[in-house]
Amino acid sequence: MSGNLSPAEIGKFLSAKGALRFVEPDMKLGLGTGSTAAWLVKLLAHTKRTQGLNFTAVATSYATTELATSLGIEIRGLDEVGQLDLTIDGADEFDPALNLIKGGGAALLQEKIVATASDKMVVITDKSKRVDALGAFPLPVEVVRFGFRTTQRLVSELLADQNVRGRRVTVRMAGDQPLVTDEGHHILDLHLEKIGDPHSLSAKLATIAGVVEHGLFLGIADAVVVGHGDGRLETQFAGRDDWQVEEIDLEAEAALLAALAG
Ligand code: A5P
Repeated sequence: MSGNLSPAEIGKFLSAKGALRFVEPDMKLGLGTGSTAAWLVKLLAHTKRTQGLNFTAVATSYATTELATSLGIEIRGLDEVGQLDLTIDGADEFDPALNLIKGGGAALLQEKIVATASDKMVVITDKSKRVDALGAFPLPVEVVRFGFRTTQRLVSELLADQNVRGRRVTVRMAGDQPLVTDEGHHILDLHLEKIGDPHSLSAKLATIAGVVEHGLFLGIADAVVVGHGDGRLETQFAGRDDWQVEEIDLEAEAALLAALAG
């Protein structure tokens, strides 16, 4: 019924659809980056077109700007719009306290600027991102290009005193060159396996001059919406241990899914 979409893609669609209920008319919205956020952008464009939903949108990357614009959503500058009502974005990992690792798509800097300029942040994701402790996903750290090998060494040295299981630090590549972010920086990936004290690590990374920002989003998310390929939709709110679980009728969503996937 859902064409050739994998259960993971259906889960991402459902999480984005579930997050739409946080959107109210005339809101100022931050639009995230990544494959799950792409579903959200498509759903917002569809809702705007079919139901006349009005909103103001700020994007967290050039990729999201391009997608949104191609679907008829006008993207405005953050400084022009000011404080946002809500940002909806994906994540690479989230823990039971709704702390996140983000930046797998190299957009963490704009993502953090936009999320922290929002009254509320809702994370849309699938079950593969749920972990007991952050760190299996390599932690992205955005660094300035000047002296980035020195910054890499300083970050490695800093890890010696941190409660982490792995300590390898690599430079993210795009082909045979270090990747350059939307803001003109490079990305270090910290292969930590398990982060025992994310707050300590966050504070320490901020002391290194060449570090612009890192992908630990601590205490920023207000809710996480997890979609499953079988139609289950789970929502957890920050500060609460329980999950709100719903069953979504996938047959009823089939036409919309097919239209947006196509
Ligand atoms: C982009 O830099 C990331 O923070 C993404 O939000 C994250 O990688 C999630 O992406 P997917 O939704 O594609 O898994």
